[in-house]
Amino acid sequence: MSLANPGLIPSVSFHKYDESRVIAIEPDTASWAVVDAQGEEFLRSLDGSRSISSIAEGGPEKRELLDRAYAIGLIALGQDRRLPPDLFQRMPVHVQPWHAVLNITRNCNLKCVYCYARAGDDSQNMSPDMIYRVFQSYADGAWEPAETSDGRITMIMHGGEPLMALDEMREGVRRIRRHPKQERLEILLQTNGTMFTDEAVQFFREEHVGVGVSFDGIEWCHDRTRPFAHGKPSYAAVLRGIERLKEEGIGFGVLVVVTSITAPHVEQIFDDILARGIRSISFNRFFHGGRGKAVGAELAISDEQWYRVQRTLLERLIAVNRAEKDPANYVRIREFGHMLQNLLTKSRMWICMRSPCGAGWVHLAFMPDGSVYPCDRYIGEGEMVLGNLNDKSLSEILNGNPLLERILARRVDRVERCRMCDWRWVCGGDCPARVYLQNGTIDSAGVQCDSIRRITQDMIVMLDKGLLTPEYLILDD
Ligand SMILES: C[S@@+](CC[C@H](N)C(=O)[O-])C[C@H]1O[C@@H](n2cnc3c(N)ncnc32)[C@H](O)[C@@H]1O
Ligand code: SF4
Ligand code: SF4
Repeated sequence: MSLANPGLIPSVSFHKYDESRVIAIEPDTASWAVVDAQGEEFLRSLDGSRSISSIAEGGPEKRELLDRAYAIGLIALGQDRRLPPDLFQRMPVHVQPWHAVLNITRNCNLKCVYCYARAGDDSQNMSPDMIYRVFQSYADGAWEPAETSDGRITMIMHGGEPLMALDEMREGVRRIRRHPKQERLEILLQTNGTMFTDEAVQFFREEHVGVGVSFDGIEWCHDRTRPFAHGKPSYAAVLRGIERLKEEGIGFGVLVVVTSITAPHVEQIFDDILARGIRSISFNRFFHGGRGKAVGAELAISDEQWYRVQRTLLERLIAVNRAEKDPANYVRIREFGHMLQNLLTKSRMWICMRSPCGAGWVHLAFMPDGSVYPCDRYIGEGEMVLGNLNDKSLSEILNGNPLLERILARRVDRVERCRMCDWRWVCGGDCPARVYLQNGTIDSAGVQCDSIRRITQDMIVMLDKGLLTPEYLILDD
């Protein structure tokens, strides 16, 4: 037997998708191919006993499948594998934060029933000094910004409603602009869309702020979940805000929370948002943080529903984009863009779909009182506080921090159920904060496995059919 004889890598497994398609996946390298029953039989027959030339006698189709399977890492030639089995384990995990969520204020003019930040329960604003200190900690830390950030330091202004603390935010940014590394600063802002004053618009323009507007789509859905603090509906005010941004030429995207209220209507929500000329949309599945805990029984959706929502949106997205000639104008749903990245590339740039997830080493969240969390989703969970900038420098907080070490140790090759899962390095092990808020620990496997596996396999088949293409990727996070 020659060492160069092709052999199927033993970890490859086959998942029947439908009557004519089988997905072959090599879990360690997240390499996959769609084959038919003959293709599966052929790949399974590669036991290293036959030479390439004898296999090629079977015809050009066999030779072609052999070449493709070797190129993507499903078969080895003797000991020679195109991709090392520890490909993802080798990826460096250096604490190099560059992504910061700033809870600019605890205050809000809305009182959304599901608000994980419990906004409005108190009204503390972050001081300009604290805003500056967050930037300074990143820029002057003992680390260099990670290569995945292109040298950027991204500050995401959240809250509460960040525009309720516009003065503090502007003053903090003004101070940052005197820092020698200020050109690294990129500002994103997530807002409820009801407070676009002239000053706010000027701030967006001057600082090239990327704006995200939260909007639950259909009037009655939106007003059920996102009322003003005084109880009146906010839908009309958000629509006015959206129109204002359009008139001012400020680029923005929209974020929809998927709850039991919005889930049955996502298709209509998607179409209505598109009809308003918006091309970038995020669909955020409800999670049980903050006020969301009390309303979880009513607003949470099942995994089956979440899968249906994703499948519906994927089909609508493809239909809309197929009618568009220029891929530059494609509508983008952020979550699908990130999933595609994991299916089409071996990089794991998106902080929520890598393992360990980016919380605590790429991404941190800061509260007005200086407390530091690994991710904003943990806000209010006392045991998830890493430290406080009023007590220690950020380097001191992170260095040797036992909580951070626990978070970094949560990798798909260590979590019991994930370790055995064929989709582990595509999935990344689910959002640990979602897992924590549902199970009370970060150490268990994901809480959306079924929907992750199903939508992943759907996307693989759509890629194979050419319905999805690399143009759907989002590479900017
Ligand atoms: C906490 S808000 C802060 C920024 C701003 N006030 C806003 O509403 O956009 C950030 C985002 O989280 C979303 N959100 C709040 N609670 C949530 C929950 N329990 N599950 C999923 N998303 C939630 C909001 O709709 C909003 O898009
Ligand atoms: S989701 Fe945003 S707008 Fe709604 S209460 Fe929370 S902070 Fe305010
Ligand atoms: S979270 Fe679930 S789907 Fe993801 S790797 Fe773990 S077991 Fe697999």
